[in-house]
Amino acid sequence: MNRANVPTAHCAVFSDAQAARDHINKVGAPLVIKADGLAAGKGVIIAQTLREALDAIDEIMTQRAFGDAGNLVVVEECLVGEEASFLCVCDGVRAVPLPSAQDHKRVFDNDEGPNTGGMGAYSPAPVLPDSMLEEMADLTVRPILRELAKDGHPFVGVLYAGLMMTAQGPKVLEYNVRFGDPECQPLLMRLDGDLPAIMMAAVRGKLDPASLGQTSQTALGVVITAKGYPGPYAKGLPIEGIEDADSVPGVKVFHSGTAIKDGSLVSNGGRVLCVTALGNSLAEAKKTAYAGVAKVRMQDGFNRTDIGDKGIRRLAGK
Ligand code: GLY
Repeated sequence: MNRANVPTAHCAVFSDAQAARDHINKVGAPLVIKADGLAAGKGVIIAQTLREALDAIDEIMTQRAFGDAGNLVVVEECLVGEEASFLCVCDGVRAVPLPSAQDHKRVFDNDEGPNTGGMGAYSPAPVLPDSMLEEMADLTVRPILRELAKDGHPFVGVLYAGLMMTAQGPKVLEYNVRFGDPECQPLLMRLDGDLPAIMMAAVRGKLDPASLGQTSQTALGVVITAKGYPGPYAKGLPIEGIEDADSVPGVKVFHSGTAIKDGSLVSNGGRVLCVTALGNSLAEAKKTAYAGVAKVRMQDGFNRTDIGDKGIRRLAGK
């Protein structure tokens, strides 16, 4: 990001726990501590105090809570603002923006509790309106594509920039080279185009921006998890009512952690389903998605009840 001149948080990288502690003691809190590797959405710790930051180093680098992802730790400036997910389909040269989305990473309502892989999402995110998408691609995605191509690694696929919309402007928190879950579900509900054809055009280096049409409706998805997630949770929990949810007009249920056992649908992961709906407004999409959620009967199922509220408040100017 620094090479490509993409705005991001100041950071330092450590392979040695004591060096990380020394740095933290010098710069002070708040800080963001990141394990450099896959940690099932749990490897980012927002430390409000020095103690929390030092404990995070201990957890990641000494106790190795995330295994080899703790070999390297990133200690970052804590950015303040509202998060948005910004995804582009890329064909190595071109980056075509999808509409914005907003994920809800904390497990409980009002953004409380530990971080998860995502408890729900909606699109568009009012904090990143359609009118800003091209500008955002120029700022956060196209410079990275150019650097990758220059390095001999032209990138083809979905490049997902996790943004923090700060008072100083948008800053990139992270990139993912995939669609993002649960952002993918509302984004695909809105896509008015042929996804496999879009992907093949990207592979051939001939992506046509006009092929990524979007419905102007809003989409919102609510994730149903197994109780206990992101901590320990049971698998094999019986699930019923998917057809009932799917029959609510505008609703589609996406499966993630499910399996068929003895002919019946059961849970097979922490994040189990994403009940997604289209609506003419964010409030309507929320109401319809939750009408779908109410039809799903899952033993020890859990979901947030406030997906979309932040956006609804922003649209109301609150
Ligand atoms: N929802 C966040 C992610 O997919 O990384």
